[in-house]
Amino acid sequence: MNAVSAQVNRRRTFAIISHPDAGKTTLTEKLLLFGGAIQLAGAVKARGDQRRAHSDWMKVERERGISVTASVMTFNFDNKTFNLLDTPGHEDFSEDTYRVLTAVDSAVMVIDAARGIQEQTRKLFEVCRLRDMPITTFINKMDREAQDPFDLMDEIEQNLQIEVTPASWPIGMGSSFLGCYDIINDQLILMDKARRGEKPYQIETCEGLEDQKLDALLPEYSLKILRQEIELVKGLCPEFNRDAYLSGNLTPIFFGSAINSFGVSELISGLSKNAPPPRPQPAIERKVNPDDKKVSGFIFKIQANMDPRHRDRMAFLRLCSGHFKRGMKLKNIRNNKQISLHNAVLFLARDRELAEDAWAGDIIGIPNHGNLHIGDSLTEGEALHFSGLPSFAPEHFKAARPEDPMRAKHLSRALQQLAEEGAVAVFKPHIGSDWIVGAVGILQFEVMADRIRTEYEVPTLFEATSLITARWVETENATDLKNFIRKNEGAIAVDHRGDPVFLARNTWHLDRTQEDWPQIVFSKTKEQIR
Ligand code: G4P
Repeated sequence: MNAVSAQVNRRRTFAIISHPDAGKTTLTEKLLLFGGAIQLAGAVKARGDQRRAHSDWMKVERERGISVTASVMTFNFDNKTFNLLDTPGHEDFSEDTYRVLTAVDSAVMVIDAARGIQEQTRKLFEVCRLRDMPITTFINKMDREAQDPFDLMDEIEQNLQIEVTPASWPIGMGSSFLGCYDIINDQLILMDKARRGEKPYQIETCEGLEDQKLDALLPEYSLKILRQEIELVKGLCPEFNRDAYLSGNLTPIFFGSAINSFGVSELISGLSKNAPPPRPQPAIERKVNPDDKKVSGFIFKIQANMDPRHRDRMAFLRLCSGHFKRGMKLKNIRNNKQISLHNAVLFLARDRELAEDAWAGDIIGIPNHGNLHIGDSLTEGEALHFSGLPSFAPEHFKAARPEDPMRAKHLSRALQQLAEEGAVAVFKPHIGSDWIVGAVGILQFEVMADRIRTEYEVPTLFEATSLITARWVETENATDLKNFIRKNEGAIAVDHRGDPVFLARNTWHLDRTQEDWPQIVFSKTKEQIR
């Protein structure tokens, strides 16, 4: 094994997917606590608030109590380095979430034990499935009245069409939740409620469920039920099979209570043992193996103005191969420009530190002034274009123009930057002087309007439009495209990269145009490959 492989194999880069309120923040915090990255419960939220206070536009987040921005948290456990990528909780920012999911190798799906699978869980699960991503399930809030565990397993299996197998099995629920039986290691893990918030465990190893030791540890009735249920589970569910998990066909289920730190340690141990190290990443030219010697990676997120005084932009690079060293020069394949990476950073739970060394699977932040875009591929020289980072056709539109016409250029620059960051879609129609701003979710407008006002200081008027959707238009034959554009001039715009887009006034308009122009491909998504 070469030095790169040894480092790569120690890495676990993952995200948590869930419906808002299922307990993602609480679980994140407990993972960091167990990983020794923070000392106190509550630190993640405090840090979040602190970070939010840095930037004015994030007031929108604060006022609405939602987490819009995604960040990266690194911690160590069991001699492994875990990179946890946070995803925005609100569905209006799902585009950001999709992009974050392209940068991870596996996901933890958190489900509220009382609510089961919810809408957002399902949507995010589908994105993971498209990438055959291994998923570990954590059924949270077992300390509350919950659905029957068999029903929950059934719901996951039926609803998400994935095989399930419990890694642990709950003993009781709500106020009579006593703990779990660890099916994989044959041990009993009892919850010590008195030490809530720490690592309130009492682990009893036993030789299977018939071990007489258990009689002294559990009430007779609970033990009887446990024995019956485990027997049933073993008859109903397949044994854990790592290959089936790695190919995304089987999800191991852990039951727990994040707020009581219960089940968290078993979850991380499970990830440490079974979650995949960095996987090969698809590029148009070839698959890129993480232990290739040369460094490569792609930008999946840009976060601007984390510090508004400096107008800084942080580009998040997922390293796909090689050993990154501070001071290295990488080439941006989009424009063939070299960049020297002296001040790239790694994100720890509390802080950032200069990235001296990093390996495939790690995420490094590159401060820049706008020369890096989402979807950019960086390499030591080889022309590689990483694929799979989509833009989605917006479904909400507003026309934008500056209150002061003399400031049109300023507005244009602001919109261009916001579009490069992936915050909104921006279109310049062939006819007319307004810009059209498009969003996948309504809240994106609020955040954008706030940012244009506070960061770019361009008073802007936003007006409703009658548009319903946009489609990128393409064809192999340049003359066909030219004709199409000429005949439909009133509905044509270009996006921030200069690619032509058809803006539809209503479904009929879209359907009719598609029927009339069969030689044109109308796309709902656009790969961000440059
Ligand atoms: P999210 O990031 O997925 O949106 O969820 P978050 O962790 O913020 O949790 C949502 C609510 O559920 C919080 O309560 C949190 O305390 C609670 N919660 C999380 N895990 C558990 C658990 O294992 N058991 C129980 N009983 N509750 C849990 P809140 O009242 O909305 O917020 P807070 O005031 O407690 O912060």
